[in-house]
Amino acid sequence: MSDSKNDIVLEMTDIHKSFEKLEVLNGINLQVRKGEVVAIIGPSGGGKSTLLRCATTLERVDYGKIVIGGDVLCDTISGRLSYCDKKTEKEIRSKFGLVFQNFNLFPHFSVKRNITEALIHVHKKSKAEAETICNNLLMKMGLIEKADEYPCNLSGGQQQRVSIARALATNPEIIFFDEPTSALDPELTKGVLTVIKDLAKEKMTMVIVTHEMSFARDVADRIVFMDGGVIVEEGPAYDLVTNPQQQRTKEFLAGY
Ligand SMILES: Nc1ncnc2c1ncn2[C@@H]1O[C@H](COP(=O)(O)OP(=O)(O)O)[C@@H](O)[C@H]1O
Ligand SMILES: [Mg+2]
Repeated sequence: MSDSKNDIVLEMTDIHKSFEKLEVLNGINLQVRKGEVVAIIGPSGGGKSTLLRCATTLERVDYGKIVIGGDVLCDTISGRLSYCDKKTEKEIRSKFGLVFQNFNLFPHFSVKRNITEALIHVHKKSKAEAETICNNLLMKMGLIEKADEYPCNLSGGQQQRVSIARALATNPEIIFFDEPTSALDPELTKGVLTVIKDLAKEKMTMVIVTHEMSFARDVADRIVFMDGGVIVEEGPAYDLVTNPQQQRTKEFLAGY
Protein backbone atom coordinates (compact mmCIF):
# COMPACT_ATOMS: atom_id res chain seq x y z
CA MET A 1 0.00 0.00 0.00
CA SER A 2 2.97 2.29 0.43
CA ASP A 3 2.68 3.81 -3.01
CA SER A 4 -1.10 4.00 -3.15
CA LYS A 5 -2.88 7.24 -3.97
CA ASN A 6 -3.92 7.49 -0.32
CA ASP A 7 -0.33 8.18 0.61
CA ILE A 8 -0.33 11.49 -1.21
CA VAL A 9 -1.10 14.28 1.24
CA LEU A 10 -0.72 17.21 -1.16
CA GLU A 11 -1.21 17.21 -4.88
CA MET A 12 -0.89 20.40 -6.93
CA THR A 13 -1.39 20.00 -10.67
CA ASP A 14 -0.65 22.57 -13.38
CA ILE A 15 -1.02 25.53 -11.04
CA HIS A 16 -1.13 28.97 -12.62
CA LYS A 17 -1.38 32.24 -10.76
CA SER A 18 -0.91 35.83 -11.89
CA PHE A 19 -1.07 39.15 -10.12
CA GLU A 20 -2.41 41.52 -12.77
CA LYS A 21 -0.09 40.91 -15.72
CA LEU A 22 2.66 39.29 -13.64
CA GLU A 23 2.70 35.50 -14.05
CA VAL A 24 3.94 34.24 -10.70
CA LEU A 25 3.18 30.52 -11.01
CA ASN A 26 3.41 29.10 -14.48
CA GLY A 27 2.34 25.47 -14.41
CA ILE A 28 3.55 24.00 -11.13
CA ASN A 29 3.19 20.28 -10.40
CA LEU A 30 3.97 19.14 -6.88
CA GLN A 31 3.11 15.97 -5.01
CA VAL A 32 3.97 15.34 -1.39
CA ARG A 33 3.66 11.90 0.16
CA LYS A 34 2.83 11.07 3.74
CA GLY A 35 5.93 11.35 5.90
CA GLU A 36 7.90 13.16 3.23
CA VAL A 37 9.88 16.36 3.88
CA VAL A 38 10.11 18.58 0.81
CA ALA A 39 12.28 21.69 0.80
CA ILE A 40 11.56 24.44 -1.70
CA ILE A 41 14.52 26.62 -2.58
CA GLY A 42 15.06 29.38 -5.08
CA PRO A 43 15.72 33.08 -5.55
CA SER A 44 13.52 35.76 -4.06
CA GLY A 45 10.51 36.57 -6.22
CA GLY A 46 10.42 33.07 -7.74
CA GLY A 47 6.92 32.34 -6.45
CA LYS A 48 7.70 30.14 -3.43
CA SER A 49 5.47 32.03 -0.97
CA THR A 50 2.70 32.35 -3.52
CA LEU A 51 2.78 28.58 -4.03
CA LEU A 52 2.40 27.99 -0.28
CA ARG A 53 -0.29 30.65 -0.07
CA CYS A 54 -2.25 28.94 -2.86
CA ALA A 55 -1.91 25.54 -1.15
CA THR A 56 -3.16 26.99 2.13
CA THR A 57 -6.19 28.90 0.78
CA LEU A 58 -4.65 32.33 1.42
CA GLU A 59 -4.61 32.95 -2.34
CA ARG A 60 -6.84 31.67 -5.12
CA VAL A 61 -5.16 30.06 -8.12
CA ASP A 62 -6.19 30.99 -11.68
CA TYR A 63 -5.91 27.49 -13.06
CA GLY A 64 -5.09 23.96 -11.92
CA LYS A 65 -6.02 21.44 -9.28
CA ILE A 66 -5.18 21.17 -5.59
CA VAL A 67 -5.98 18.14 -3.43
CA ILE A 68 -5.12 18.09 0.28
CA GLY A 69 -5.64 14.99 2.40
CA GLY A 70 -7.93 13.55 -0.26
CA ASP A 71 -10.19 16.63 -0.40
CA VAL A 72 -10.32 18.65 -3.60
CA LEU A 73 -9.75 22.34 -2.86
CA CYS A 74 -10.03 23.39 -6.49
CA ASP A 75 -10.10 21.85 -9.92
CA THR A 76 -10.11 23.03 -13.50
CA ILE A 77 -12.33 21.07 -15.84
CA SER A 78 -12.60 22.01 -19.52
CA GLY A 79 -10.72 25.21 -18.76
CA ARG A 80 -13.10 26.24 -15.97
CA LEU A 81 -11.74 26.67 -12.46
CA SER A 82 -13.95 25.94 -9.49
CA TYR A 83 -13.31 25.91 -5.75
CA CYS A 84 -14.94 23.57 -3.23
CA ASP A 85 -17.79 24.73 -0.99
CA LYS A 86 -17.11 26.62 2.25
CA LYS A 87 -17.64 23.57 4.45
CA THR A 88 -15.05 21.49 2.56
CA GLU A 89 -12.65 24.42 2.58
CA LYS A 90 -12.99 24.66 6.34
CA GLU A 91 -12.24 20.94 6.64
CA ILE A 92 -9.23 21.34 4.39
CA ARG A 93 -7.97 24.22 6.53
CA SER A 94 -8.06 21.99 9.60
CA LYS A 95 -5.76 19.49 7.86
CA PHE A 96 -2.65 21.64 7.64
CA GLY A 97 -0.52 23.85 9.82
CA LEU A 98 1.26 26.95 8.64
CA VAL A 99 4.39 28.58 10.03
CA PHE A 100 5.40 31.99 8.70
CA GLN A 101 8.68 33.85 8.60
CA ASN A 102 7.42 36.45 11.08
CA PHE A 103 5.74 34.04 13.51
CA ASN A 104 2.28 35.68 13.19
CA LEU A 105 1.37 35.07 16.81
CA PHE A 106 -1.52 37.05 18.28
CA PRO A 107 0.31 39.75 20.29
CA HIS A 108 -2.54 40.27 22.75
CA PHE A 109 -2.83 36.54 23.61
CA SER A 110 -0.58 34.65 26.00
CA VAL A 111 1.54 31.83 24.61
CA LYS A 112 -0.97 29.35 26.00
CA ARG A 113 -3.93 31.11 24.41
CA ASN A 114 -2.14 31.39 21.07
CA ILE A 115 -1.91 27.59 21.07
CA THR A 116 -5.30 26.69 22.55
CA GLU A 117 -7.50 29.22 20.73
CA ALA A 118 -8.08 27.22 17.53
CA LEU A 119 -8.26 23.95 19.47
CA ILE A 120 -11.17 25.26 21.53
CA HIS A 121 -13.00 27.37 18.96
CA VAL A 122 -12.35 25.53 15.70
CA HIS A 123 -11.61 21.98 16.80
CA LYS A 124 -14.16 22.06 19.63
CA LYS A 125 -11.84 20.59 22.27
CA SER A 126 -12.65 21.20 25.92
CA LYS A 127 -10.49 23.75 27.72
CA ALA A 128 -8.87 20.95 29.74
CA GLU A 129 -8.08 18.89 26.65
CA ALA A 130 -6.69 21.93 24.85
CA GLU A 131 -4.46 22.78 27.81
CA THR A 132 -3.11 19.24 28.01
CA ILE A 133 -2.21 19.34 24.31
CA CYS A 134 -0.68 22.79 24.77
CA ASN A 135 1.40 21.78 27.79
CA ASN A 136 2.74 18.68 26.04
CA LEU A 137 3.80 20.74 23.05
CA LEU A 138 5.37 23.47 25.17
CA MET A 139 7.37 20.78 26.99
CA LYS A 140 8.54 19.41 23.68
CA MET A 141 9.57 22.90 22.55
CA GLY A 142 11.35 23.60 25.86
CA LEU A 143 8.97 26.48 26.57
CA ILE A 144 6.70 25.27 29.34
CA GLU A 145 7.79 28.09 31.65
CA LYS A 146 6.66 30.62 29.03
CA ALA A 147 3.01 29.50 28.92
CA ASP A 148 1.66 32.68 30.50
CA GLU A 149 4.01 35.14 28.81
CA TYR A 150 3.01 37.37 25.91
CA PRO A 151 4.85 36.95 22.57
CA CYS A 152 6.64 40.31 22.94
CA ASN A 153 8.50 38.93 25.98
CA LEU A 154 9.95 36.03 23.99
CA SER A 155 12.96 35.91 21.70
CA GLY A 156 12.32 35.44 17.99
CA GLY A 157 13.43 31.81 18.27
CA GLN A 158 11.03 31.19 21.15
CA GLN A 159 8.19 32.90 19.27
CA GLN A 160 8.85 30.71 16.26
CA ARG A 161 8.78 27.59 18.43
CA VAL A 162 5.43 28.73 19.86
CA SER A 163 4.22 29.18 16.32
CA ILE A 164 5.36 25.63 15.48
CA ALA A 165 3.59 24.35 18.62
CA ARG A 166 0.43 26.15 17.47
CA ALA A 167 0.72 24.53 14.04
CA LEU A 168 1.19 21.08 15.62
CA ALA A 169 -1.63 21.46 18.16
CA THR A 170 -4.40 20.59 15.74
CA ASN A 171 -2.64 17.40 14.70
CA PRO A 172 -2.30 18.39 11.03
CA GLU A 173 -1.62 16.01 8.15
CA ILE A 174 0.96 18.41 6.74
CA ILE A 175 2.80 21.52 7.90
CA PHE A 176 3.96 24.30 5.59
CA PHE A 177 6.87 26.50 6.63
CA ASP A 178 7.67 29.71 4.77
CA GLU A 179 11.27 30.68 5.57
CA PRO A 180 10.83 29.83 9.26
CA THR A 181 14.29 31.03 10.25
CA SER A 182 14.99 33.96 7.99
CA ALA A 183 14.02 36.51 10.66
CA LEU A 184 16.35 34.89 13.21
CA ASP A 185 20.03 35.24 13.99
CA PRO A 186 22.21 32.12 13.58
CA GLU A 187 22.03 31.08 17.24
CA LEU A 188 18.22 31.21 17.37
CA THR A 189 18.01 29.63 13.92
CA LYS A 190 19.73 26.52 15.27
CA GLY A 191 17.05 25.94 17.92
CA VAL A 192 14.22 26.23 15.40
CA LEU A 193 15.95 23.97 12.86
CA THR A 194 16.50 21.36 15.57
CA VAL A 195 12.78 21.34 16.31
CA ILE A 196 11.98 20.87 12.61
CA LYS A 197 14.63 18.14 12.33
CA ASP A 198 12.99 16.29 15.23
CA LEU A 199 9.62 16.54 13.50
CA ALA A 200 11.19 15.04 10.38
CA LYS A 201 12.45 12.11 12.48
CA GLU A 202 8.87 11.62 13.70
CA LYS A 203 7.83 11.45 10.03
CA MET A 204 5.74 14.62 10.06
CA THR A 205 4.87 15.55 6.49
CA MET A 206 6.38 18.97 5.78
CA VAL A 207 6.93 21.45 2.99
CA ILE A 208 9.63 23.94 3.93
CA VAL A 209 10.65 27.01 1.97
CA THR A 210 14.15 27.75 3.14
CA HIS A 211 17.47 29.37 2.33
CA GLU A 212 19.29 27.07 4.77
CA MET A 213 20.97 24.89 2.18
CA SER A 214 22.78 22.49 4.49
CA PHE A 215 19.59 22.02 6.50
CA ALA A 216 17.64 21.29 3.30
CA ARG A 217 20.31 18.86 2.13
CA ASP A 218 20.40 16.98 5.44
CA VAL A 219 16.77 17.03 6.54
CA ALA A 220 14.63 17.07 3.39
CA ASP A 221 13.92 13.93 1.41
CA ARG A 222 13.47 15.95 -1.72
CA ILE A 223 14.39 19.46 -2.85
CA VAL A 224 12.44 21.48 -5.35
CA PHE A 225 14.25 24.40 -7.00
CA MET A 226 11.84 27.10 -8.18
CA ASP A 227 12.64 30.12 -10.30
CA GLY A 228 10.47 32.38 -12.41
CA GLY A 229 7.26 30.58 -11.45
CA VAL A 230 8.35 27.14 -12.59
CA ILE A 231 10.05 24.15 -11.01
CA VAL A 232 13.44 24.20 -12.71
CA GLU A 233 14.69 21.01 -11.11
CA GLU A 234 13.80 18.62 -8.31
CA GLY A 235 15.32 15.52 -6.86
CA PRO A 236 16.60 13.70 -3.80
CA ALA A 237 17.96 16.37 -1.46
CA TYR A 238 21.58 15.29 -1.36
CA ASP A 239 21.81 14.75 -5.12
CA LEU A 240 20.26 18.08 -5.97
CA VAL A 241 22.60 20.04 -3.73
CA THR A 242 25.78 18.16 -4.59
CA ASN A 243 25.13 17.43 -8.24
CA PRO A 244 22.58 19.82 -9.78
CA GLN A 245 21.79 19.15 -13.43
CA GLN A 246 20.41 22.46 -14.66
CA GLN A 247 22.62 25.48 -15.29
CA ARG A 248 20.21 27.75 -13.39
CA THR A 249 20.32 25.48 -10.33
CA LYS A 250 24.12 25.41 -10.45
CA GLU A 251 24.28 29.21 -10.53
CA PHE A 252 21.85 29.53 -7.64
CA LEU A 253 23.64 27.00 -5.46
CA ALA A 254 27.02 28.57 -6.24
CA GLY A 255 25.82 31.58 -4.23
CA TYR A 256 25.74 29.51 -1.01
N1 LIG B 1 -0.34 40.01 -3.43
C1 LIG B 1 0.50 40.30 -4.44
N2 LIG B 1 0.21 41.25 -5.35
C2 LIG B 1 1.04 41.52 -6.38
N3 LIG B 1 2.21 40.89 -6.60
C3 LIG B 1 2.55 39.93 -5.72
C4 LIG B 1 1.73 39.58 -4.60
N4 LIG B 1 2.33 38.58 -3.91
C5 LIG B 1 3.49 38.32 -4.56
N5 LIG B 1 3.62 39.11 -5.64
C6 LIG B 1 4.74 39.09 -6.61
O1 LIG B 1 4.86 37.76 -7.06
C7 LIG B 1 6.23 37.42 -7.25
C8 LIG B 1 6.55 36.19 -6.46
O2 LIG B 1 6.50 36.51 -5.09
P1 LIG B 1 6.67 35.44 -3.93
O3 LIG B 1 5.72 34.32 -4.15
O4 LIG B 1 6.59 36.17 -2.66
O5 LIG B 1 8.17 34.91 -4.21
P2 LIG B 1 9.22 34.24 -3.21
O6 LIG B 1 8.49 33.78 -2.00
O7 LIG B 1 9.82 33.12 -4.01
O8 LIG B 1 10.22 35.30 -2.91
C9 LIG B 1 7.03 38.65 -6.87
O9 LIG B 1 7.32 39.37 -8.03
C10 LIG B 1 6.08 39.41 -5.98
O10 LIG B 1 6.34 40.78 -6.02
MG1 LIG C 1 8.74 34.21 -0.01
